[in-house]
Amino acid sequence: MDSLKNDSLIRALLRQPTRRTPVWMMRQAGRHLPEYRALRAHAGDFMSLCSHPEWACEVTLQPLQRYDLDAAILFSDILTIPDAMGLGLYFVEGEGPKFRKPLRCAKDVESLQVLDTAKDLTYVTDAVTLIRRELNGSVPLIGFSGSPWTLATYMIEGAASRDFARTKSWLYEQPELLHQLLDILTASVINYLNAQILSGAQVIQIFDTWGGALSDAAYYEFSLDYMQKVVSSLIPVNEGREVPVILFTKGGGMWLDALAKTGCHALGLDWTVNLGDARRRVGSKVALQGNMDPAVLRAGPAAIEPEVRRILRSFGDGSGHVFNLGHGITPDVDPKHAAFFVDTVHRLSNTG
Ligand code: CP3
Repeated sequence: MDSLKNDSLIRALLRQPTRRTPVWMMRQAGRHLPEYRALRAHAGDFMSLCSHPEWACEVTLQPLQRYDLDAAILFSDILTIPDAMGLGLYFVEGEGPKFRKPLRCAKDVESLQVLDTAKDLTYVTDAVTLIRRELNGSVPLIGFSGSPWTLATYMIEGAASRDFARTKSWLYEQPELLHQLLDILTASVINYLNAQILSGAQVIQIFDTWGGALSDAAYYEFSLDYMQKVVSSLIPVNEGREVPVILFTKGGGMWLDALAKTGCHALGLDWTVNLGDARRRVGSKVALQGNMDPAVLRAGPAAIEPEVRRILRSFGDGSGHVFNLGHGITPDVDPKHAAFFVDTVHRLSNTG
């Protein structure tokens, strides 16, 4: 086991005391950084960046060179899994992700095979290995996956969607077919995340970006149950250290109690949740991560400082808080604002 010079993220996720509140930003690597845009132009497109471990490694480290972050997050995408299953991922500028062969019928689901990460996504595990080597124990590396439900929405819609009309038709008209797909995705996500852990990912986050689009009953049946299966099948300890798991359902504030019972270590919160209330509800079971509205970063220091202070006060004293945004940083944020945000979290939370 290599020693970790800054283990404050892992400590906070395990609700152990830290000198100051650790902070990282969802989507911290990406288009708000000019050095990212330059490398992407050189690489040609986003998927080339992801599929070349040297580039994925370089992009992962870019935000750490600018900001005093307490974690690195693997540079990749949640849609690598459906891409590896043969759906043909591509991106259209300004329109987001698309699939050449979205799922349209039962036959399409029956022809899917559970992902074999060692064979199908070696570029991801190679990137993890390389990033760990380059980080050299400075901060922990977060690996991630989409939740089975969120992956299913992209695979069925074939593109970003406002209302998930096709996916919800499956849900209400052929629920067994959707369950069949979710079973395959759950096995794939488990295989993928365990491969990331064995390659060196020290924390895992599951992005359930579209869980909040479900009705209360459907959320339990089609998203939470599958995340629960993932959580209970992940390698719990690697390199002699616990591997904390963070579940993030965007728009999932009303399901925190159920999420906290899955066996995960922490819950990611979007900005609609009152952090203090969330702590009173589930803070004795899990750590909490979040939850500043990313729009505050656009506004600059005069807005950032009071907002960071308010969120730290809302959580209150004691351990178990990881500062983050309530969703990904947007491409129009000035890196100076992001740097000020990270430093402000550290300065205002420092207990000496
Ligand atoms: O957080 C990080 O820095 C790690 C990298 C990361 C990316 N995507 C890089 C990326 C992570 C963790 C993701 C997860 C992801 N991808 C999610 C879940 C998180 C969330 O935001 O809710 C989702 C829903 C996706 C699917 C996806 N991939 C979308 C919607 C987009 C944006 C398309 C667009 O044009 O806005 C992508 C592409 C993508 N993934 C980019 C980055 C940096 C932008 C690609 C580019 O144009 O350079």
